[in-house]
Amino acid sequence: MSTMHQDVEPGDAVHPGDPVRVDRYTTGARINHWITAASLVLLALSGLALFHPSLYFLADLFGGGQSARAIHPWIGAVLFFSFCGMFIRFWRANLWEPNDTVWMRRLRDVLAAHDENLPELGRYNAGQKVVFWAMSILIIVLIASGVLIWDQYFSQYTTLEQKQLAVLVHSAAAVTVICVWIVHVYAAIWVRGTIPAMVKGYVTGGWAWRYHRRWLRDLVAGSRDRNSGATSAG
Ligand code: HEM
Repeated sequence: MSTMHQDVEPGDAVHPGDPVRVDRYTTGARINHWITAASLVLLALSGLALFHPSLYFLADLFGGGQSARAIHPWIGAVLFFSFCGMFIRFWRANLWEPNDTVWMRRLRDVLAAHDENLPELGRYNAGQKVVFWAMSILIIVLIASGVLIWDQYFSQYTTLEQKQLAVLVHSAAAVTVICVWIVHVYAAIWVRGTIPAMVKGYVTGGWAWRYHRRWLRDLVAGSRDRNSGATSAG
């Protein structure tokens, strides 16, 4: 599989104007991502069902209040381990760089689409990095506080006061992670051409050039070095 290729079938003529595809995510990364995404949505729905009487109707999606309560921590465990997979794949690409601070300071230009005033970026922009680290911290807080209130298995290890504090922390982290998730999805839709990256695994050369030019340059340099050999999709 190559990093960059044109959208052609065997036997097709290749034209210089054909769109160039740039691989961004492997199949494994995409499966990992969508399991994470589905578990967060199910986790939020089952959690909200237990959160407030006005949201009890959501428990019907899980076969009633008792089963929503029983299944919620298990979905949390799936989210945690699935996100660990995402973390191992992407933490390095989300490390902060000096250009990220410049990008953040020019958020006005980002929102006004004045790309010419923005620095060249690697695989992710500063906004994505903030979302990544926020998700990482919040998911650790959620699993840790969640275990403390998982009465079925751990009730004898905590006092009532510790449980009360854990419920508070758990609820606050849950509301925050839902807000971060909304920002993540909104940004993915707002930057056109981003959703196909996670659905099909590739982006257009134009998208890569416009939003993540240094990543594209590195890919091109890498493919040249390897004489258009292995892929660099994460
Ligand atoms: C259900 C709705 C979701 C949609 C539509 C969505 C969409 C996307 C898209 C399009 C990308 C590719 C961005 C790019 O390559 O520039 C992406 C990346 C990513 N998503 Fe999601 N996502 C969703 C849910 C989630 C959830 C629930 C999590 C974690 C709790 C998550 C974690 C990530 C991570 C870690 C990346 C890699 C970007 C990075 O490391 O900064 N996503 N998502």
